[in-house]
Amino acid sequence: METVLSGIRSTGHLHLGNYFGALRNFVRIQDEYNCFFFIADLHSLTTHPHPDDFHASVKIILSEYLAAGLDPEKSAIYIQSDVPEICELYVLLNMLAYTGELERTVTFKEKVRQNPDNVNAGLLTYPVLMASDILVHRAQWVPVGKDQEQHLEMARVYARRFNGMYGEEVFPEPQNLVFKGGAMKVPGLDGSGKMGKSNGNGIYLYDDEKTITKKVMKAVTDSGPTEPDSPMPEVIANLFTLLKLVSTQDTVDYFTEKWNDCSIRYGDLKKQLAADICKMTLPIKEKIDAIYNDDAYLSKVVASGRERARASASATMKLVRKAVGFKAF
Ligand code: ADP
Ligand code: TRP
Repeated sequence: METVLSGIRSTGHLHLGNYFGALRNFVRIQDEYNCFFFIADLHSLTTHPHPDDFHASVKIILSEYLAAGLDPEKSAIYIQSDVPEICELYVLLNMLAYTGELERTVTFKEKVRQNPDNVNAGLLTYPVLMASDILVHRAQWVPVGKDQEQHLEMARVYARRFNGMYGEEVFPEPQNLVFKGGAMKVPGLDGSGKMGKSNGNGIYLYDDEKTITKKVMKAVTDSGPTEPDSPMPEVIANLFTLLKLVSTQDTVDYFTEKWNDCSIRYGDLKKQLAADICKMTLPIKEKIDAIYNDDAYLSKVVASGRERARASASATMKLVRKAVGFKAF
């Protein structure tokens, strides 16, 4: 079985974009691949979260991923900082990562621009840590969105460089796993394209009914179609895109017809959309709460994930240490 790996940011809650764009696919592939999913808590330290919040954010995001269907019986689900082999590989890969290429990374340049007062070395070597996450399991497949493609390319560069330098094929070159149907974009409700945490337009799996209804009812619309079968402006198409994700085909057909014959009432469409989002997310929210409050369960999940991840990582590190030339006295 081939190995798939994905790192999950430990900040914020999961929104419908994360769910439909990534997580739902992770859930589906758990039987087909040897899966490693981890919470990237070390990566989050570049921004110096307060120690009181650090653990809580990991716990929240872990509970949300488990509630939404990641299965610890099938996949290794672990916390990055629980696997010291990642840090060991990070040190070794840093020796063959050139500062020039790190400084040219798009995400690094962007962060420097946004936070000129916190240009720390961890930020510069962020892609090296990410490459270590991947290469430590010799993963063949890593599902990433556009913003992480350059980091994945750098992981390939370091794999190739290491293999070349030590004359051994220790690491495969990890490829982007693109899911069936291609990348999908979940729109926001403010008419401005993609749903995203930083866009402030997210509907979260953790939102309650009132919050979801309020957000959907406030969605941007236009003054309505005036001629039968007119082309749909983006803001309205966005509502339909969401409707297709959460509603039945009958519901979609019903409102499409209403649009086509100009009798659509956006209030009705929004009410239906809000109700169908709630129908999908509220049971997940209930599970999130149950899991979050079950420390015994979480501790079992994390321990078993750690064990599986360390077994795989230490097998790789044996090969790496041998290749580099470490020997026992
Ligand atoms: P955000 O944009 O809210 O910060 P992340 O960048 O942390 O979200 O995304 C984590 C995963 O969710 C990535 O794989 C990304 O491609 C996916 N994702 C995020 N937003 C969307 C969206 N609106 N549509 C589809 N996929 C998305
Ligand atoms: N950098 C990724 C992000 O911001 C998270 C991440 C860390 C990751 N390590 C990884 C993703 C390894 C894939 C593989 O979303």
